[in-house]
Amino acid sequence: MGVSTVTARTSVPVWDEQPGRRSVPLAQVLVYELRVRDAMSKPPVTAAPQDSLRSIQHLMKAHKFSGVPIVEGDRLVGLVSIEDIINALDRGHINEPAERHMTRNVVTLRDHYSLLRAVAEFERHGFGRFPVLDAGDRLVGMITRGDITTCLMHHLEKRAEEAIAHEAALVAARVADEKAERVVIRAPVRTGDYDSAGKVSQRMRQVLRERGIDPEVRRRAAVVAYEAETNIIIHSLGGEIVVTIDPDKVVIEANDVGPGIENIELAMQEGWSTAGRLPRELGFGAGMGLPNIKRCSDRLEIQSDSEHGTRLRAEIFLKRAGGAE
Ligand SMILES: Nc1ncnc2c1ncn2[C@@H]1O[C@H](COP(=O)(O)OP(=O)(O)OP(=O)(O)O)[C@@H](O)[C@H]1O
Ligand SMILES: [Mg+2]
Repeated sequence: MGVSTVTARTSVPVWDEQPGRRSVPLAQVLVYELRVRDAMSKPPVTAAPQDSLRSIQHLMKAHKFSGVPIVEGDRLVGLVSIEDIINALDRGHINEPAERHMTRNVVTLRDHYSLLRAVAEFERHGFGRFPVLDAGDRLVGMITRGDITTCLMHHLEKRAEEAIAHEAALVAARVADEKAERVVIRAPVRTGDYDSAGKVSQRMRQVLRERGIDPEVRRRAAVVAYEAETNIIIHSLGGEIVVTIDPDKVVIEANDVGPGIENIELAMQEGWSTAGRLPRELGFGAGMGLPNIKRCSDRLEIQSDSEHGTRLRAEIFLKRAGGAE
């Protein structure tokens, strides 16, 4: 890409570096963003060319307008202002039709103009109001300086309310976050209830997903919860699963009432299983559950005896997706 240098004899700074000069006030931004159609009053109150100036005077009084556009259909053909009415009263032609005395070269604004441009037009012409035309030259509204002010105030208010609501939502989210720091999922597990296998694991994964936990970590936690739960279903007389999700780790506890694991060392070996026919038919009993739990946990404790049953406690350290702890 070529670079060209323009050398000027005198340089005029675009911004003189007054402090705060570059900060653009909200009202100014709104003046750019808002259109004439946002501020104008619509539909316009109009009169026909044949209407008497007297009737237009009444119209003005009723609506507190100081100018009434004269239309044929939706075409603007003139404007009767309060001055025209005063002149008519002075000169005694108040009962004559509008078309004889109305202003015909009416200066109009387009509905798509920015309010910034509208303000400039008010300054330039010094008129109290402008008829507003759309792109198809149809009269669609009237606009006064007052309409612009009202519109700006309304939008400033709206923005302020939005800002307050946004702030409140942020605070609420923070409070919810703090409250949600620990989630405990607790579920009883019944012997032989194969249909329920995996429910605790599923709920846990949902929470971990919402917290943006790394998918690989989520899968490990899921394996532990699922295998521990199915062991209670298959091998025990019933028990409970408690999953405690903290910001830094998830703790999976599987406690049952017996009969306990006869030989933990053997049970931890791959392929060792005492599962009967039914669980094997259902796809369990490969002897892989405990070895998988061990592989997937960062910390694992198993206590088991025939008197108290089996207590398994596994910890998985959490990290957020994308590598951040
Ligand atoms: N909660 C428990 N209560 C009593 N015995 C258990 C318990 N959990 C495991 N065991 C014993 O340990 C063995 C090994 O468990 P592991 O989960 O590794 O394999 P499995 O459950 O038999 O098969 P898989 O998990 O592959 O479906 C089981 O066959 C069972 O004898
Ligand atoms: Mg198992």
